[in-house]
Amino acid sequence: MALDGKELILGVTGSIAAYKAVYLLRELVRLGARVTVCMTEHAREFVGPLTFRTLSGRPVLINLFDPQSPEAVEHVALAERAQAMIVAPATANVLAKAAYGLADDFLTTVLLAVRCPVLMAPAMDGGMWEHPAVAANVATLRQRGVTVLEPDTGELASGLSGRGRLPEVDAIVEALFTALNPVRDLRGERVLVTAGPTREPIDPVRYIANRSSGKMGYGLASAALRRGAQVTLISGPTMLTPPPGAVFVPVQTAEEMREAVLQHVAGASIVVKAAAVVDWHVKHPAATKLKGKQELTLELTPNPDILAEIAGRRTGAFIVGFAAETHEIAANARAKLASKGIELLVANDVSQAGIGFDADENEVLLIDRWGGERALPRMAKAAVADAILTHILALRSAAAARPADRVSR
Ligand code: PMT
Repeated sequence: MALDGKELILGVTGSIAAYKAVYLLRELVRLGARVTVCMTEHAREFVGPLTFRTLSGRPVLINLFDPQSPEAVEHVALAERAQAMIVAPATANVLAKAAYGLADDFLTTVLLAVRCPVLMAPAMDGGMWEHPAVAANVATLRQRGVTVLEPDTGELASGLSGRGRLPEVDAIVEALFTALNPVRDLRGERVLVTAGPTREPIDPVRYIANRSSGKMGYGLASAALRRGAQVTLISGPTMLTPPPGAVFVPVQTAEEMREAVLQHVAGASIVVKAAAVVDWHVKHPAATKLKGKQELTLELTPNPDILAEIAGRRTGAFIVGFAAETHEIAANARAKLASKGIELLVANDVSQAGIGFDADENEVLLIDRWGGERALPRMAKAAVADAILTHILALRSAAAARPADRVSR
């Protein structure tokens, strides 16, 4: 692996792990990169700028308004030159500032100015990493295309053990290589993704829905875009921002999702239905707001099975469904795969805390129609999305090599 002549920015923030940034810098320089280090004021409390200056051979940038700076608007010039920016260690504070677009020092201002790949290697106490605020900021950054590495597990500076250690230098460098050499293996593919819940109205103000946040589906759409696909994202209501570059089709009900899928499925080479479609709708939603304090009986009618319908149309697309199961995961998923007539089913155990609905991570079992099964370990949904897409390509190539089993049904 070489980084010959690559212009990099290394941002160092105020964590005890800041000393490890010295080893990272040394490795980047050894691999041939030209590195400019910028530090926060807090980082200076842990490691002196002279160390970074000596190893990089360049001035270390800390202050936004430095009268000694050779360039009038240093952060813009630096951002324009950079081919990648790494923030290591990234504290909870800098993750939050980056997620909200705050720019109150040199490092965070450069983060807003760069247009190159950005990698953040978090380091903090385990409890902080698991805090919902940090998780939400990480999810926002990942959705925006920032590579936020998973911290390592082990002994922490607090003396406690947990997840929060800065990833090893090798892991950061490897992630940097991936960011600098993005995989474009979905170029030419048209990928249709559904995401989020549906909402089935009871009256003008109430509805039946489920706990889907859309994170899994949006992660798939982002990953497919990054890998070169044209992506259409059909989504029920979520709090997420659609990934830039996707054709975005917002829907509310299962019927609206069905219409949108049928409208966009022609020409799709891969369809991934991560949406959690509500299984029923209210037969006669009230036209005016129902009054409380009285018993209410709702008559529910099954919604159309969108997945089975598109599979039955035999469009030639590779069709992937998800299964949200709470028990006998594999057996239920196998039955669902067969009943829907699709190529691949991604089963998740939604009874487990921390994965599945509204979580940032997932742990899935991939079951294909050729009898293959593969369990993926618990990972960030962005990583699960990439692994699913890689698996789809592998299965499709294998099927193409077996003429009797061609996907184009
Ligand atoms: O959105 P997140 O918070 O990130 O959570 C992700 C997730 C848990 C929602 C996702 O990983 C998932 O499991 N999605 C599918 C949930 C679900 O609806 O499972 P199901 O077993 O009820 O449906 C099986 C498949 O049929 C799904 O692909 C679903 O989109 C599809 N379906 C279901 C019913 C229906 N009427 N039409 C459909 O197309």
